[in-house]
Amino acid sequence: MLSACVCVLLVCGLAAADNSLPDDFHRCRQKDAKLNDCLRSAVADALRKMRDGIPSLSVPRMEPLHVASINIDSGAGPVVITQNYKNIKLHGLTESKLTTYKADLKQYRLRTDSITPKMEFIADYVMKGRILVLPIQGKGVANITMINLVVKHDLIGEPVVRDGQTYMHIRDYKVKFIPQRVLLNFSNLFNGDKRLGDQMNIFLNENSELVFNELKESYEKSLSSVFQDVTNKIFDKVPMNKIFIEE
Ligand SMILES: *[C@@H]1O[C@H](CO)[C@@H](O)[C@H](O)[C@H]1NC(C)=O
Ligand SMILES: *[C@@H]1O[C@H](CO)[C@@H](O)[C@H](O)[C@H]1NC(C)=O
Repeated sequence: MLSACVCVLLVCGLAAADNSLPDDFHRCRQKDAKLNDCLRSAVADALRKMRDGIPSLSVPRMEPLHVASINIDSGAGPVVITQNYKNIKLHGLTESKLTTYKADLKQYRLRTDSITPKMEFIADYVMKGRILVLPIQGKGVANITMINLVVKHDLIGEPVVRDGQTYMHIRDYKVKFIPQRVLLNFSNLFNGDKRLGDQMNIFLNENSELVFNELKESYEKSLSSVFQDVTNKIFDKVPMNKIFIEE
């Protein structure tokens, strides 16, 4: 009896939902010969307008974007560090520009490259391990700043039909991060030993490419799932033909 009630409520909820993009979002037409150009500017513009989120679609605030946690267990190689990040705030995403856009709506596939002038990753961290021959450990605030960060996005979707409407659900979201430069700053390394901490931060920055390459895959995995969630907040609620206008 209880489950029947819940079902009825859920079905009512879905049937009642008639969601669309916020009015101030630019819309692109599927048949537009310049669909990719249209999306390239419309998506970057939408991202800027999502600074404070979209409450009606439960899209979270994007500036900064909050991520609960990332855990990294780096195995072999020159950087062996167990790292735990919590209360992550990502600053700068909404300043991204899109350099290319390729939509293949028949295959439910979207590919785009973005460039973010300055992306700051600020989080509470705990870490322990070794980098090259040096032991490293600490617990404090991390600032990992990526300058001119190129992100390659590959969104693989599938059609989901509900109440006669087709939604473009993203089932896989892949990202690749290619920063021009990475600046690292970990507060309170070595239980607050300032001399050791300063030396290690200098060392980390001198070797930032090596350090970042070891962490890159974990960042990419965690952030792609955040991007996927945000995209699906919109794509699972707004029918595909209201995002990519069909006429
Ligand atoms: C993080 O580091 C960058 C680059 O050094 C700096 O510009 C920025 O102000 C720092 N952010 C915080 C919150 O400390
Ligand atoms: C790290 O951040 C602290 C506090 O914001 C600052 O005093 C210090 O100069 C920074 N170090 C580096 C290497 O950027």
